[in-house]
Amino acid sequence: MYDMVTTMLHDIKKFCEPRATSPSCAELETLMLDWLAKAMNLPKDFLHEGVGPGCGVILGSCSEGTLMTLLSAKSNALKTLSLKYPDVSEYELASKLVAYTSEYSHSSVERACLLRFTQLHKIPVDKNVSMRGDNLQRAITEDRNAGKIPFYVGDILLTN
Ligand SMILES: Cc1ncc(COP(=O)(O)O)c(C=O)c1O
Repeated sequence: MYDMVTTMLHDIKKFCEPRATSPSCAELETLMLDWLAKAMNLPKDFLHEGVGPGCGVILGSCSEGTLMTLLSAKSNALKTLSLKYPDVSEYELASKLVAYTSEYSHSSVERACLLRFTQLHKIPVDKNVSMRGDNLQRAITEDRNAGKIPFYVGDILLTN
């Protein structure tokens, strides 16, 4: 039984850690994303060779990208909040988190929030279908006053 479980865990790990099984693909991904960041003239923080938290990954679909950004932001927020409020459980902190998106954003943002049981606040758009900073700021202030914790603004460039 022990051997079976160990083998299963080993296989899952191999599947979940593609870097461990295909380092050349990971290397190629790193190089290509640095080319892209340089072509877009992004600051050095966006390069793998930079000192900041930047760089990127290549994913299979837009929806996957949306979900990944939400997961990363949520995990980051919970890490920071747990240090700030060590006596509050992670579940309680997570229940206060709120994400924002334009009311015209692709449904992938709403789906990502549903999958991760995360509150989503949709921000109205102007006549050009743009989400405006003042509307976002108003929503953030309202939510903070209600004890919520803003942590993510997602997917406002591509709208359907
Ligand atoms: C922002 C955004 N998310 C998700 C999708 C859906 O694409 P996919 O099926 O690749 O997840 C689209 C499609 O245009 C999109 O623009």
